[in-house]
Amino acid sequence: MKWQDYFTTCFKPDGPNPNPTNQVVPKQSSFRRISLSDLSSSTISEDLSISLAGSNLHVFTLHELKVITHNFSPCNFLGKGGFGPVHKGFVDDKLRPGLKAQPVAVKLLDLDGAQGHREWLTEVIFLGQLRHAHLVKLIGYCCEEEHRLIVYEYMPRGSLENQLFRRFTVSLPWTTRMKIAVGAAKGLAFLHETEKPVIYRDFKTSNILLDSDYTAKLSDFGLATDGPVGDETHVSTQVMGTQGYAAPEYLMTGRLTAASDVYSFGVVLLELLTGRKSVDKNRPYREQNLVEWARPMLKKPRKLSQVMDPRLEGQYSEIAAQKAAALAYQCLRRRPKLRPKMSEVIKVLEPLKDLVDIQIMGTFVFAVSTDSDSQNEVSKETEKPHKETKSIETALQKNLTRGLNSPMHHGFKRA
Ligand SMILES: Nc1ncnc2c1ncn2[C@@H]1O[C@H](COP(=O)(O)OP(=O)(O)OP(=O)(O)O)[C@@H](O)[C@H]1O
Ligand SMILES: [Mg+2]
Repeated sequence: MKWQDYFTTCFKPDGPNPNPTNQVVPKQSSFRRISLSDLSSSTISEDLSISLAGSNLHVFTLHELKVITHNFSPCNFLGKGGFGPVHKGFVDDKLRPGLKAQPVAVKLLDLDGAQGHREWLTEVIFLGQLRHAHLVKLIGYCCEEEHRLIVYEYMPRGSLENQLFRRFTVSLPWTTRMKIAVGAAKGLAFLHETEKPVIYRDFKTSNILLDSDYTAKLSDFGLATDGPVGDETHVSTQVMGTQGYAAPEYLMTGRLTAASDVYSFGVVLLELLTGRKSVDKNRPYREQNLVEWARPMLKKPRKLSQVMDPRLEGQYSEIAAQKAAALAYQCLRRRPKLRPKMSEVIKVLEPLKDLVDIQIMGTFVFAVSTDSDSQNEVSKETEKPHKETKSIETALQKNLTRGLNSPMHHGFKRA
């Protein structure tokens, strides 16, 4: 079967979208999430817009998307990944009645690239039906002849990859890094715990997009897949993903579980702690693979300072860093069953951005700072003092001066 056969409606002989003003997928009060397999088997000829009833997506024409991006002009260019280039545009209710005036990101399938209709379809099917504060919002799509486009809400701070690794940007402070980690963890937890669980399969810094206040949202569902059902323990798939992020057991066996995503989360957490890329060929050989290099130091508080990002300039709670590093270690366990669930990850991570180290009589305790500074509570948990102790003054200074006014991945996508 040719991939064009998946949706005959994309190839109407009478031309694209004869009635564009009617092209909003109607909203329904409740619907069952459909899978790619539902579509490719029984509903091949069914209109995508009918299948996605309830998702309130807009179906755009290619011409409309050309107009809103000024013909995909270079000055609207946001970046390019494996699917194709992404451009900024602007939509409002003149384009579709009821459409909120807002900037959007338009992703255009590169017709000479390695990805195609299947990745486009997977993205539209998953993201069209899943709504959550930590998933990027799908506004609509275009499917016209061989052209495939996806229209998302625009994320003003771009990808975490750009924020963390692009040279000449101000370094992200600790609180912002932890906020991003928690947001991304919530996105993954939602996918894993939804009624019909989803395995994301491509968790990495370039797929975590950031809102103006650094709220993290997952994008790129082109590799997402339905999780195992019933008594199944895993789904067997072709190995796809990104080198440096994919879990070792998945790479070796093709057996995919939610724990594979947890491993990838551990890699991203490590990137946030160290400011290093998961794979960096420009480093000495021993340090090129981040996980292999950092793993032995993650559980040793005295060695931790050797892996922490020097761009943080020590402006973080050491106890919080130790907890985050120990969590990364658990996520990166070689045996998938030993890795925590994403809901457990959130519980550990959530308090870390507000931790402040305070040294009292030579013993470290930490305070959890709440929105109101006057409500700070000193935790009962105490830590043994160690050589690199910090004074109360430094710890408090850190907290006061720290705020949210902050500042290439290696693909082996084998189809
Ligand atoms: N909704 C969006 N808002 C703002 N910028 C976006 C949006 N979606 C993508 N981008 C930008 O476009 C660029 C390309 O994104 P894309 O997801 O296509 O590729 P990638 O994630 O870099 O690579 P890969 O193909 O491996 O996923 C990224 O740098 C990202 O910053
Ligand atoms: Mg991406």
